[in-house]
Amino acid sequence: MYQAFSIAQVFGIPAPARMTVEGFADDSYPKIPVQRDYVFRKEPLRDVLAFLGNPHGDGLYVTGPTGSGKTSLIMQIAARLNWPVHAVTCHGRLELGDLIGQFTLVEGTMIFVHGPLSQSVRDGHVLILNEIDLMDPSELAGLNDILEGQPLVIPQNGGEVIRPHPKFRLVATGNSAGGGDPSGLYQGVLRQNLALLDRFRLIEIGYPEPELEDAVLAKTVPAIPAAIREKMIRVANEVRKLFVGGDEGPGMLSVTMSTRGLLRWAALTVAFKGAPNALEYALDRALTLRAEPEQRLAIHRIAADVFGDDWRGA
Ligand SMILES: Nc1ncnc2c1ncn2[C@@H]1O[C@H](COP(=O)(O)OP(=O)(O)OP(=O)(O)O)[C@@H](O)[C@H]1O
Ligand SMILES: [Mg+2]
Repeated sequence: MYQAFSIAQVFGIPAPARMTVEGFADDSYPKIPVQRDYVFRKEPLRDVLAFLGNPHGDGLYVTGPTGSGKTSLIMQIAARLNWPVHAVTCHGRLELGDLIGQFTLVEGTMIFVHGPLSQSVRDGHVLILNEIDLMDPSELAGLNDILEGQPLVIPQNGGEVIRPHPKFRLVATGNSAGGGDPSGLYQGVLRQNLALLDRFRLIEIGYPEPELEDAVLAKTVPAIPAAIREKMIRVANEVRKLFVGGDEGPGMLSVTMSTRGLLRWAALTVAFKGAPNALEYALDRALTLRAEPEQRLAIHRIAADVFGDDWRGA
């Protein structure tokens, strides 16, 4: 049922051959995420694997700016370990009951259909609550007992009791670390309950170092030449520096270029390679058309500076 996977082999990072991690032998379960190219960073990988190996009663809270690779990190690790995942995107009106399940009319009779939480607890799957900080904290309080290994009781379903499977794992992702969003840029982020947060271990996923982001870009959009890749990453990092939500104090931009945005810029540059200035045309469509006009100009000026002669000629 379970199988040991070699860390070096499965994740493509240097690690002693004897280092393994336990996953599932059955690779046919439909809830196993689809494997995609992903460049693993050593530290977050180590943290997630340690958590999956033995959570010691904790959940895992992955925090970091938008589009930095939080959700995909968990999904891609699970994909390689054949670990089924239920991924839910939270919002302000999501209730614990939605996660537990509800009665649904099936062929003329009402039957109880278990939700993602009940299924994960019962079958030993990973439950990812994406953007957990958008959820009403009082709805989440019900997770406290389950994290501690208490059975899930479902009064609506005749008091059904589900004992947590030893492979059940709860992962949350959020742009805030649960304490609210001081920048005010992430709409709808709520300060979470301390008692719940106290049950999570944290990892922070920032935007990757340039060398790593280069590897991500090379793998995802291989048609972009290395010299252009390097400049695109420089532009992304300049934009990040000027972003008001950044670490380096108040900036002038209210949009930023995430890894997601950068990959989109690259893919669109390839798609529009016939356009007079494919880089600029793609940058608009990837990011700057949703920036305020003067911010758009500022970003294009940064790009023109970084690319120099390549800007109009690419
Ligand atoms: N290390 C990486 N290797 C390959 N692709 C990556 C990597 N990091 C990020 N990406 C890609 O960047 C995109 C955004 O990643 P993801 O959705 O995981 O971000 P996120 O941090 O969860 O964002 P949000 O805060 O908006 O939920 C995805 O397409 C993902 O595949
Ligand atoms: Mg995400």
